[in-house]
Amino acid sequence: MYKIAVFVSGRGSNLKAIIDRLAQTEKNAEVVCVVSDKLDCPAFKIVESKQIPTYSVSQNENENFLSYTKLVSILENLEIDLIVLAGFLKKIPNILIDSFEKKIINIHPALLPAFGGKGMYGLNVHKAVFEKSVQITGATIHYVDKIYDNGKIIAQKSVDISRVESPEDIASLVLEIEHELLPEVIVKFSEKKIIEKNNRIYINK
Ligand code: GAR
Repeated sequence: MYKIAVFVSGRGSNLKAIIDRLAQTEKNAEVVCVVSDKLDCPAFKIVESKQIPTYSVSQNENENFLSYTKLVSILENLEIDLIVLAGFLKKIPNILIDSFEKKIINIHPALLPAFGGKGMYGLNVHKAVFEKSVQITGATIHYVDKIYDNGKIIAQKSVDISRVESPEDIASLVLEIEHELLPEVIVKFSEKKIIEKNNRIYINK
């Protein structure tokens, strides 16, 4: 069984797309826990009835939040194969990156390396894309390293936004793509079809 941990901060529509997609496969990959930087993250509702545990994490451990050190040991005990940042908006601390090298991926709602970096998340990204009058945007899935939105790109999908009238229009077009691309890439990971060659990432058929 290929075990996935999904990290979320908001509504969790990507989390839902992942769970729905994995339910259609041969059941050889599954989401085994959901982690948030929020206590009552709206995305937790999506797994409420599914017996998938949820954890809240913070740099400052207290009675409600786990420390990242404790989270790492929980994820190691669960034998997590892949951590998916699906709208997780906090920077991932080095302890997690060092413990799960090349096992953390992020979805970003633009075509990196443009419109990435600190502060570039959610609607901020789409506003910047709108204001620049960019005509094509999309979604990017990349490895997470110690620098924001910097790791190697695994997959991208684009969308024509030449007719949009607001950043919100862009957000909904991009979200549609995200819901296809992220589950697709996760399935490829579970099938061991994501490989590194020539210092690039390839997805085998
Ligand atoms: C998604 O659009 C995701 O790409 C974005 O947050 C949204 C979460 O939506 N992530 C970032 O901006 C990271 N830089 P969701 O909670 O409905 O999946």
